[in-house]
Amino acid sequence: MSEDKLLEINNLTVSIKEGKEMLPVVRGINITVPRNKIIGIVGESGCGKSITAKSINHILPPAAKITAGSMIWHEASGQQTDLVTLKEKEIRKRCGKDLAMIFQEPMSSLNPMMTIGSQIKELLKIHKLENNPQKAKARVIEMLDAVGIPEPALRYKAYPHELSGGMRQRVMIAMAMIGQPKLLIADEPTTALDVTTQAQILKLIRKMCESYSMSALMITHNMGVVSSTCDYVYVMYLGTIMEEALTQELFNNPLHPYTRGLLSSIPKLGDNPEFLKTIPGNIPVDSKKFKGCKFCMRCSDDIKKCFFEEAPLYKVSENHYVRCHLAGSDNKIVNSEDTSNKAGSETVKGGKNK
Ligand SMILES: Nc1ncnc2c1ncn2[C@@H]1O[C@H](COP(=O)(O)OP(=O)(O)OP(=O)(O)O)[C@@H](O)[C@H]1O
Ligand SMILES: [Mg+2]
Repeated sequence: MSEDKLLEINNLTVSIKEGKEMLPVVRGINITVPRNKIIGIVGESGCGKSITAKSINHILPPAAKITAGSMIWHEASGQQTDLVTLKEKEIRKRCGKDLAMIFQEPMSSLNPMMTIGSQIKELLKIHKLENNPQKAKARVIEMLDAVGIPEPALRYKAYPHELSGGMRQRVMIAMAMIGQPKLLIADEPTTALDVTTQAQILKLIRKMCESYSMSALMITHNMGVVSSTCDYVYVMYLGTIMEEALTQELFNNPLHPYTRGLLSSIPKLGDNPEFLKTIPGNIPVDSKKFKGCKFCMRCSDDIKKCFFEEAPLYKVSENHYVRCHLAGSDNKIVNSEDTSNKAGSETVKGGKNK
């Protein structure tokens, strides 16, 4: 997408210590978050979605380390800052104001001993946004109202355990929004909720993005969440971006066999539960060291080359890229010697210019 950029993740590699070795779990990914857009990262459990998200605001687990890449934050003034190089104190200053994060389980982020009102009010103080107690309280109640908490003045005094899961997630969104961040990172924000509440929360996130001119990075394993929420989506598999496209384009024309597998795994009304589709096969045993396409062991379309060499990211169109050898040859299977680009798809090595 060529829109006004807010965050540009370039060639990000994150490695995790395993014994004496540092093994990459996120491998040279490029993600662009434009202003006022919702960007999805979708992929199976363990593919590196949360590690990517946690890299942005420096909350990686102790065993993990950013080993390469940059994360360029574009200020409205045009100034650029690499978030990777920021000191702890500097990134904490940005958290809440520039960046905010919500997680799957609100209970793990809320203090059970404090009322929700006090918790949100505390943030106004921390971010030096409002010191006057009366005005701060009014602002919190206004925000609780904005996220759809009924009787917000009354709920201000409620403790987290007195609220339903959906209401707690609304409180988390209120906490995230109170500093009016420019980017909301939502890591599986609706996974723990029933489908009706899930739809309401996704609608709320979209509304908040529009009302507050905010972008969001939506992390999910659920293609349904992507289709209802995201403008553009990155499909991740074992630490690598396999395909990226405008959401509608990805759903209409999925090119990577992994994306197609994810889409065909979405249960449809009337499906017999005994015959629900899955993506067969396993990941390579030593996947982190395996040189070929990480998906080839599970791919129905693989060619010999896939076992020895990972495909570059091919540009299919302005808003569609895919990392698959088959896409480099007009989606036809070619023998392993044929590296020409018959379809005229542009090979994009390393970074890309969108
Ligand atoms: N604290 C940790 N210590 C060691 N390895 C970790 C840690 N956290 C994550 N990993 C490893 O990093 C890889 C990526 O994990 P990550 O949590 O980013 O996956 P995910 O895509 O968010 O999965 P899920 O959908 O289950 O949340 C996995 O192989 C995981 O085992
Ligand atoms: Mg995760």
